[in-house]
Amino acid sequence: MATTRKKRVLTGSRATGMPHLGNYFGAYKPAIDLQDRFELFLFLADFHALNEHYPPEENRLNSYRMVASFLACGLDPSKSLLYAQSAVPEVNELAWILSCQVPFGVMARAHSFKDAQAKGIDINMGVFNYPILMAADILLFDANLVPVGQDQKQHLEMARDMAQRFNHHYGECLVIPEPMISDTVAVVPGTDGEKMSKSKNNTVSLFADDKEWKKQVMSIVTDAKGLADPKDPDTCNVFKIYSLLGGPAEIGAMREKYIAGGYGYGHAKMELLEKLKEKFGPMRDKYVSWMNRQGDLREMLHEGSRNARALAAEKLNMVQGRLGLIGRPF
Ligand code: ADP
Ligand code: TRP
Repeated sequence: MATTRKKRVLTGSRATGMPHLGNYFGAYKPAIDLQDRFELFLFLADFHALNEHYPPEENRLNSYRMVASFLACGLDPSKSLLYAQSAVPEVNELAWILSCQVPFGVMARAHSFKDAQAKGIDINMGVFNYPILMAADILLFDANLVPVGQDQKQHLEMARDMAQRFNHHYGECLVIPEPMISDTVAVVPGTDGEKMSKSKNNTVSLFADDKEWKKQVMSIVTDAKGLADPKDPDTCNVFKIYSLLGGPAEIGAMREKYIAGGYGYGHAKMELLEKLKEKFGPMRDKYVSWMNRQGDLREMLHEGSRNARALAAEKLNMVQGRLGLIGRPF
């Protein structure tokens, strides 16, 4: 009897700092929530992190942080595949193949490249080629669903386009991935109201000590309304972040207090801080305990990476066969 493979969910995160609530709600949680029903591939995008230049010891620490975070958030390596992008050279081989198909004009329209250009940042070729490497991450593993935040939507469209282009020229071979972007968490706001992002210093960290969490929550920008004034919850960053953490009744209660007045932003921030501790405190303990076992983290990553490579090699054989390349002795 033919068995059908479970749908495959895949997502990655750049090892560029301490993961934050935006990463959690936009990508990690939606991915990990699916690990019982689907095949989950979760990986450390450590090559993608290289287009920013961190000292080696920071790259190393950020990689451990990412793996420890995935595990603390509930990734179960006995059910799901956890690996490092840098340990799967086939990703880069497929990236080259795809780069030979993508027109320059398409790449020049990528938001990530245009944003870097607009900011006057020195652009290396890693920034320019970023969407191709990301497409290779996805297409090499036949991913069906890719949970990401809104900022990655265009990259997903580009990956779909690359797969379609390849299939058109060489016959059905690459799976067309679907982005999975949930409206409510597509853009989690940071402490300044802009998109929360590691590079903007506006994050509420997933795992910080109480003092750091307090500092981050207290720094959330609000308008200047006084304690007595009625307030608009829907334009308030504190309320927006609280809405991600609280249950429906708690969110409703805070909403009413905003509208009624006599409830200051300081009160709302304290409630948010307590909720953060309640919700992420236990996960933080797991995170800290994983960070104290870096040898185990490395071993787990290596084992997952070996399994990922075996799958990657099979797919690359197929792709190279379609292209008429005869060199791979596998
Ligand atoms: P950052 O932008 O902070 O460097 P990453 O590039 O590592 O984060 O992103 C990892 C995942 O988290 C991606 O799927 C990205 O879309 C998602 N993500 C990042 N920031 C947010 C946010 N503020 N809201 C929703 N999703 C986000
Ligand atoms: N580009 C993503 C980000 O900046 C990270 C990433 C790399 C990714 N490869 C991926 C996400 C493949 C999903 C699938 O957030």
